[in-house]
Amino acid sequence: MFFDFAEIIHSYSTRMTDTFYITTPIYYVNSHPHIGHAYTTIVTDVLTRFRKLFGDDTYFLTGTDEHGQKIVESAAKAGVEPQAFVDEISREFREMWPHLHIDFDQFIRTTDPEHKACVQQILQKIYDQGEIYLKEYEGLYCVGCERFLDEAELEDGNCPDHQTPPEFYQEQNYFFKMSAYQDWLLEELKQNESWIYPGRYRNELIQFLKAPLQDLCISRPKSRLAWGIDLPFDKNFVTYVWFDALLNYASALGWPEGEKYTKYWPHVHHTIGKDILKTHGIYWPCMLKAAGLPVFKKLVVHGHWVVGGSKMSKSLGNVVDPLAMKDQLGVDALRYFLLRDMSFGEDSNFTEDLAITRYNGDLANNFGNLLNRSISMSRNNFEGCVPPLGEVGELEIDLRNSFSKGVETCQEYILAFQPHRALEHIAWLSSQVNKYIDNCKPWSLAGQPEGRERLGTILYTALDMARILVGLLDPVMPEKMCEARKSLGLVTEAIPFEKITPGVLVAGTELPEPTPLFPKMKISAKNESVVKDQLPEKIEIKPEEKGKEWLAFDDFQKMELKVGHIRSCRKVEKSNKLLCSEVDLAEGRMRSIVSGAAEFYTPEELTDRRVLVVANLKPVKLMGEVSEGMILFSDDNGKLVLIEAPEDVNPGVTVR
Ligand code: MSP
Repeated sequence: MFFDFAEIIHSYSTRMTDTFYITTPIYYVNSHPHIGHAYTTIVTDVLTRFRKLFGDDTYFLTGTDEHGQKIVESAAKAGVEPQAFVDEISREFREMWPHLHIDFDQFIRTTDPEHKACVQQILQKIYDQGEIYLKEYEGLYCVGCERFLDEAELEDGNCPDHQTPPEFYQEQNYFFKMSAYQDWLLEELKQNESWIYPGRYRNELIQFLKAPLQDLCISRPKSRLAWGIDLPFDKNFVTYVWFDALLNYASALGWPEGEKYTKYWPHVHHTIGKDILKTHGIYWPCMLKAAGLPVFKKLVVHGHWVVGGSKMSKSLGNVVDPLAMKDQLGVDALRYFLLRDMSFGEDSNFTEDLAITRYNGDLANNFGNLLNRSISMSRNNFEGCVPPLGEVGELEIDLRNSFSKGVETCQEYILAFQPHRALEHIAWLSSQVNKYIDNCKPWSLAGQPEGRERLGTILYTALDMARILVGLLDPVMPEKMCEARKSLGLVTEAIPFEKITPGVLVAGTELPEPTPLFPKMKISAKNESVVKDQLPEKIEIKPEEKGKEWLAFDDFQKMELKVGHIRSCRKVEKSNKLLCSEVDLAEGRMRSIVSGAAEFYTPEELTDRRVLVVANLKPVKLMGEVSEGMILFSDDNGKLVLIEAPEDVNPGVTVR
């Protein structure tokens, strides 16, 4: 049976290419870059690289936010002038990004003269329209957030984000009539469902707009804060830092008539963390509307990395330095981990253990192993070259089909801003090839002349699929995938998207001796448990509960409960009750798990569900099928109902 490749190549070449302008927030230069900043920038870089791969014309902007009170305070603490201070830390950000393989097109600083001129021009425009006025004001200001807080936002008198009391200010200031835009903004948010992603952040904004929107204070008297951009219509004031900073996204392109502005502005996407939703989802669209600029196309909002379960903070001493992590894990593996383990929009926990576990599972055991063994076996049996493809059977056709479809699926996930899903899918595809190799046992054919054609077909297929994975992983791990291309005997340039398809690998290509791309790593003992020192106090057991069989906490901890993703499911032959599922626990292979649910669910109904799995149950054989765990169902007098895990939680994540 021979295969028609043309059909597959055709299937994902139908998307029209697009223009794509994406920004990161500009980072405050009051402290050094940490893993949270690195995540925002890496995710933006990966989205840009994927869009480039899909043929889009992209522009990627990042930079630093250099005015405002907290910068002045930090400079004073360091005993230097604000300008010298911001120059130093801005340089640190700019120089760090290439070390993390970030390939931005432009780095803007809010102290750039072009930016200052743009801010003043827009302020003057809004002032001339009569939408800025002066009034006496008193309010509570959080320096950490660089904004006035409403009383209702405080928790025990403190800012909820910074846990510090705000400062009370009473002074004359200029205000932008933001309240006038409330109805318009609410309507926009209601009409445009995909404007803010994920949708729950849109709901948050809609909820916020149910209360009256206040006018925005856009100045600071120079007598209190001189470090900022002068208001063009009153030199006694500087511009409020957020009003200044948000405009970077347009000033960078040369608003109002720069060529880049005309080309890219209609396609602007902002990546932000959830803590700056209000400034980007409320202030920014109102400012744009007042200034007469089209509003952004999309706001994509990610969650926060917490470290060992706690918010990152200097006082807890748990701030993660991206460069130190990169030295430990390698840059590309760090990029992979950050994107794979954070469900976009949700918070995620960062520990070295989790990073290493992901590295070992996905990169060393799954993808790296696939590459190593298929290259080594081909070299050993086919004079160091890619073997010829013989007759293909159903197994090969199935694999190629899932890869062709898989490439499309990954593209869809990326276009939907779900990089974690794309990577999960890639890991699954890789595990399918490993399973194919395990099933076909090519090693048993080696050295047998009658098995040579089949051996060639298996190894060609494995290498060909590995090549597709290399193409898909390139935007995430550019350096490692360049090495992978070399080890597959390919040119070092990235594989064009239309060539990320089965059957393109050329038989006879010389394969250099492989060096493991992702050697296995050890988990260090120091990170084993974060909560060990929180010992529980003993309590009296109530008399009526004395005879109860209690489970000691240590015993409970022995159970490995994990989130799984059912990739496929089928009925067990000759059984009315049993279903056998292939479950992805992000281990680099699928688990086979038998459940007694056939009377309540069809295999199709279980396929693609996220479930809870007891992962360390001793494997057993049931009606001839190996079962390596248990999928949890509620059991209401014999009626089974599947317990589902939330869509946003990744397979392999521990359940406690
Ligand atoms: N200067 C403002 C942004 C102005 S944009 C016109 C600012 N800067 S920041 O340096 O404090 O934060 C920049 C980004 O880093 C934000 O998107 C924020 O969400 C992100 N992160 C800061 N800590 C984070 C984590 N712990 N985890 C993930 N991202 C986090 O806000």
